[in-house]
Formats: sequence, C-alpha cells, structure tokens
Amino acid sequence: MPRVLIVGSANVDFTVALSRLPRPGETVSEGTLLIARGGKGANQAVAARRLGADVRLIACIGDDPSGREVRAALEAEGIGTAAVVTTSAAATGTALIVVDAEGRNQIAVAPGANRRLGVADIDARDADFAWADVVVCSLEVPLATARRALEVARRHGAVTILNPAPFPDSGVDFLALADYVTPNETEAARLSGLPPADLAGAAKVAAAIRARGAAHVVLTLGAAGALAAGPAGDVRAPALAVTAVDTTGAGDAFNAALAVALAERQPLAGALRFANVVAALACTKRGAQPSMPHRAELAGLDGGEA
Ligand code: RIB
Repeated sequence: MPRVLIVGSANVDFTVALSRLPRPGETVSEGTLLIARGGKGANQAVAARRLGADVRLIACIGDDPSGREVRAALEAEGIGTAAVVTTSAAATGTALIVVDAEGRNQIAVAPGANRRLGVADIDARDADFAWADVVVCSLEVPLATARRALEVARRHGAVTILNPAPFPDSGVDFLALADYVTPNETEAARLSGLPPADLAGAAKVAAAIRARGAAHVVLTLGAAGALAAGPAGDVRAPALAVTAVDTTGAGDAFNAALAVALAERQPLAGALRFANVVAALACTKRGAQPSMPHRAELAGLDGGEA
C-alpha cells in the first residue's frame, strides 16, 4: 500500500450554495446550507485514503465538539490520527464558504487551532516521516511548521509535495525543500511574479518558479488541465470535462491523487492524468470531504488509472 503523510489543517466547513456570489456589502438569500468537514490537510488525507493509500495526518484541532467530530470522522475513514494533536488554547478551525451556480466559491477561514501546530509537533513525529513514501504540506498551518515538515521528510528520503495554499502574504522561501510545488494560477502568479498563467504562458511561469528551487512545478489550470515542469521537460494533461457543482476541495483532491500516484511510483504523465480526473470528480458533488471520490468511481474514466 502506498504510504502518504499529510501535514496540514482540519476545519469544519459551513457552505451556503447560492445562485450567485454576494458583492461586498450585499446580502443574497435563498441559499441552502451544508455543514461538513474540510480543511486542506484533512481533505487531502480523506482523498488519499479513498484512493487506496495508507494515510497518516499531522494536524491540530480544538478541545471542542467540532474537534471531536473531526477526529472521529478521520478515524472512521481509516486515517491514522495519532499525530492529530488537541489544543485547549484555540477552537477547531472553521471555514465559511459561499458557492455559486457554476460551482465557484469564496472562502473565509478562522484557522484557530490550525495555527497552534508547531515545529515541536513535527519533531515529535519523526517515525511518521520515516514511514512515509510521500509527504504533502499545505499552508493553513504556520510556515515554520510546514518548512520543518519538509526538512524532516527530506532527511528521511520521502518525496515532498508543497501545496502553496492559501498563499501567505509573506511569500514562501523554502521551495527548494519541495520535489513538487503545486500552485494554482493565482498562487503561481505570486510565486513567479508573472501575470496569471493561461495555457500558453504556463510553461514560462512554471520555469520561473523552478528557478526558485523547486525540482518540479505542477501548475493546476482549472478547466485547462495541468502542466508539470521538471528536469525531464514539460508534461501536460487535459482536464476531465464535468459539470461543476462545487469546486471546493478540488485542489486538495488533485494534491492527494498526485501523492498517491507518486507513492505508487507511477510516471509523471499518468500521475497528472489521474490527479486531473480525481479533481474533476471532486467538483461534481457538494462539499469538500463529501465530494472526494473512491478509487472504484474512477474505473473506466480516461486517466482514472494512473
Ligand atoms: O481547499 C478547500 C478548503 O479550504 C476548505 O475545506 C476549507 O476548510 C479551507 O481550508
């Protein structure tokens, strides 16, 4: 079984589906509410597990009913939670999400306990890094924590994936610790200093990010698919066309699928196609974790087997 270690956030998501996104100061009514578990780290853990990996999560939750629900749900998925720490100093992370009729979202996050995941919590889990084939870090936890996680992963010879989301105002100065950096268009623009990439400009943007130290850059371009740039050249993979209901968590699904495929030693081109299919399927249902597909759902889809 591929072994994937995720370092990141765990949230509860309150999602209202509306006909359109509100403008500043505007109230838009007649929405429907979905309360479900989210957080980039926990979403990635759930997705990787449903794709067949053995998964452990390093995260921090509050000592509150939401935190207990989050832990129980992770355990019910079969995810290792020994490294999910509980703090009484902050509430479990919470996200308020609005989704429009085309599946586009706006997300406001109160990170709470996620910001309490410290460097010491990484150092305490050395054995998990030694266990992992692939380690994935996102940035809803402190930057120093993510950096340490990538350092420890490197020391143990694991493949490292840095999902630079959400992109911090201070920027990210440890791309050289990542075997794969996986920005979306907005994050890629921040990392490269170049305008948001269209498909034609994507290779230039990816090269600029590689020049900052990342071994591979995997640029996700929404409906235009994904581009990977690395020492062996560029690889492109088309997106699977779907009718998007809710794109929340699609990036997390992509990162999880990439991690699973790399842990399975799949070639990069197949891994990209696989990740695109998983991300597309995650857009076809409401919510983040509820929409993560199981591996059996991929059967018969082009790219569904990495
Ligand atoms: O990537 C989607 C996630 O971002 C949501 O689940 C929300 O919790 C925020 O962390």
